[in-house]
Amino acid sequence: MAGNWKMYKTPQETAIFFERFNSLADGWEKSDIVLFPPAIDIPAAVAAVNGTNIGIGGQNIYWSKEGAFTGEISADMFLAAGASWVLIGHSERRHVVTSETDADVLKKTQAALGAGLRPIICVGERLEEHKAGKTNEVLIKQFAAGVAGLTEEQFAQVVIAYEPVWAIGTGQTATPEIAAAAHRLIRQEADRRFGGEAAEQLRILYGGSVKPDNIVGLMKEDQLDGTLVGGASLDPDSFFKIVKAA
Ligand code: 13P
Repeated sequence: MAGNWKMYKTPQETAIFFERFNSLADGWEKSDIVLFPPAIDIPAAVAAVNGTNIGIGGQNIYWSKEGAFTGEISADMFLAAGASWVLIGHSERRHVVTSETDADVLKKTQAALGAGLRPIICVGERLEEHKAGKTNEVLIKQFAAGVAGLTEEQFAQVVIAYEPVWAIGTGQTATPEIAAAAHRLIRQEADRRFGGEAAEQLRILYGGSVKPDNIVGLMKEDQLDGTLVGGASLDPDSFFKIVKAA
């Protein structure tokens, strides 16, 4: 169960979130919990989750180890700051703040794995692609490009998040059936490339307007291994309701 804070919260607000969230999640072992705060909040988040099972991740990395890349942060730097996960290829990076390509996604995935960060690779179709019946085509292309050339061992470290762009921040959650069909397709592709066992072990998260009142229906689908929550992860009580329901 993952929460992507996007560009919300200061370091101080991060500490306040965990004061409450840690008390709610104390002793929780039924699922992994990972939060993705803005990079500037990572030290505060890492300090706050010390001694708990909660993981912390970055929202994006650059693929070089270091260099003249103003404004960028490497996988090694996130790792050194105490992060253990990273989001790769979020739709807002593909379509809103920058124009990240499938080739960039692969370079970032390889950099994350090389440094020892676990990547959550995000894939998902846009509204016009959804309407044009191109969902499967887009998902296969983004998935294939994101994991191309990985070894089976590397692929075992990867988590995939299916986030239909039309469902992100719109309140229009994909129905459990739509989400499950997309997950099934991704799992089939994983099977084709890495074999049945790898496909079965693969964790696929759904993201897009997940809320406390729709989580139960979504998680009833066997295909959904968890969720990547945006807006509803900003409030500790709302995010823990989602964690618990799942
Ligand atoms: P919302 O839950 O706010 O729709 O955001 C989903 C998302 O993009 C998570 O990465």
